[in-house]
Amino acid sequence: MQNLTAKIIGVGKAVPKKRLTNFDLEKMVDTSDEWISKRVGIKERRVAEGNEYNSTFATAAARDALKMSGVAAEDIDFIIVGTTTGDTIYPSVACIVQESIGATNAAVLDIAAACTGFIYGASIAWSMIKAGLMKNILVIASEINTAMVDWTDRDTCILFGDGAGAAVFTASEETDTGVLSMELGGDGSLQELLVLPNSGSRKYTNPDGTPTLRATQMTGNEVFKNAVRHMYEAALSVLKKAGYTNEDVNLLIPHQANIRIIDAVSKRLKLAKEDVFVNIEKYGNTSAATIPIALCEAVEEERIKKGDLLVIDAFGAGLTWGAMAIRWTM
Ligand code: ACO
Repeated sequence: MQNLTAKIIGVGKAVPKKRLTNFDLEKMVDTSDEWISKRVGIKERRVAEGNEYNSTFATAAARDALKMSGVAAEDIDFIIVGTTTGDTIYPSVACIVQESIGATNAAVLDIAAACTGFIYGASIAWSMIKAGLMKNILVIASEINTAMVDWTDRDTCILFGDGAGAAVFTASEETDTGVLSMELGGDGSLQELLVLPNSGSRKYTNPDGTPTLRATQMTGNEVFKNAVRHMYEAALSVLKKAGYTNEDVNLLIPHQANIRIIDAVSKRLKLAKEDVFVNIEKYGNTSAATIPIALCEAVEEERIKKGDLLVIDAFGAGLTWGAMAIRWTM
């Protein structure tokens, strides 16, 4: 069998225009810009408006990534969308994007791995390309988290934002470049730590029999501890599998859920501030979309150069986690 890997040749992002600042939130719940900035690291987040859907941003990010890649829509073999907040459970966001961009030859799939959705999607893309089954794969992650938030719950409503990011993966024969290794994991025994009730077919009710609100419920500090542990271990694992150590990393792009989680993971990995990409202050937690949005901004800001060793590293509800080591080729 031919020796192949997958490399990224185009990235894109799209976020709503509407900004919701910490000062706006001060008027909605008992919170403060000071608490949110210090405890979470967010200053503002983007919020989709009435006629803007998950697929609106997924499509826009996909168009950007395709344009940069130079690959025609009809040459895309597979569209994979990481999301837990699609327009509908069916049709999938991937189907809607396929139609919007004219990727008529593409297979289509949404995957639900919460905040780890982009890395799970990228892993499927890598595997398909490595196996020689497909050539060009568009991986998107897109979320409308603000539709799943209880705007009276200060514990959660301050955390989330909306947006999408995308990347085009293509086959490469230079197997020491592009995706070098991956690590994926999950722990269903901790499913209760982060739940979105009434978002599927199971009916959740309160003790008095009334339906539970469809809004994120989270045991924040337990999620926090698990995030630090699994993101640290996943990053070390992909480096080891690729034959490197933490000292070789040029840029870490971690999931943007809380600046204190990012700082704790970076400290354990002994990475300097300039070796870690952070944009949580602008967008909050856009779940699966944080990694491809950050990847796109890292490219725009020239924080990644050709030949750099990049690690992407995420964690989310489920629990799920995953990382990837990538030798950058653009
Ligand atoms: N404003 C002001 N005070 C607040 C707020 C707020 N928005 N939220 C909580 N507080 C208060 C609490 O009531 C508590 O007060 P008390 O001490 O009087 O009881 C105090 O602040 C501390 O609360 P904690 O919950 O202990 O705060 P913590 O430092 O753990 O921060 C947070 C909470 C931000 C949720 C943190 O635990 C966290 O980031 N967890 C991980 C979140 C995450 O990773 N999510 C990703 C998954 S999302 C997905 O997968 C879809």
